[in-house]
Amino acid sequence: MPMRIGSFSLLALWLLACESGPPPGMTDPGELIYFGYVNKQAQCSRCHGDEGQGGMFGPQIRGAVKKLGVDSVRAIIAHGRGEGDKRMPGMAKELTPSQIEQVIGFLRRWDNTSSVDSSVIYKDH
Ligand code: HEC
Repeated sequence: MPMRIGSFSLLALWLLACESGPPPGMTDPGELIYFGYVNKQAQCSRCHGDEGQGGMFGPQIRGAVKKLGVDSVRAIIAHGRGEGDKRMPGMAKELTPSQIEQVIGFLRRWDNTSSVDSSVIYKDH
């Protein structure tokens, strides 16, 4: 029995270790938020994809700042938008106003690329 408990704890530790910490080189505070390293609840990539390309739970957000303007994007991130299971959850409880500015700063990286620009989205493949 003690053996089993021991290996279970080791497994739990290993899982925790894997979850903590961003990949080396990821230092942009906005990027750390986007990928959920600051607050797991506010992990944008979970719904909008690692490349902002969108996915099952959220639309593409490439170029969203340019398209909607920074004020709208700020309001959407803070208060959410939409209905039901297609709703963007508001993040005002998860992120401070300055963290929201940081993640907007990161989104601007995608301002000049659109979903159809597959050379950018699939640049690593
Ligand atoms: C649980 C899934 C989910 C998470 C997590 C999430 N979003 Fe969204 N987001 C959505 C959905 C769904 C919409 C579309 C809402 C609608 O149709 O009105 C959306 C819309 C948006 C839009 C507007 C896109 C457009 O072109 O109209 C922006 C900007 C945005 N999200 C940014 C973020 C940021 C930044 C984060 C992280 C802080 C985030 N989202 C986290 C689901 C999510």
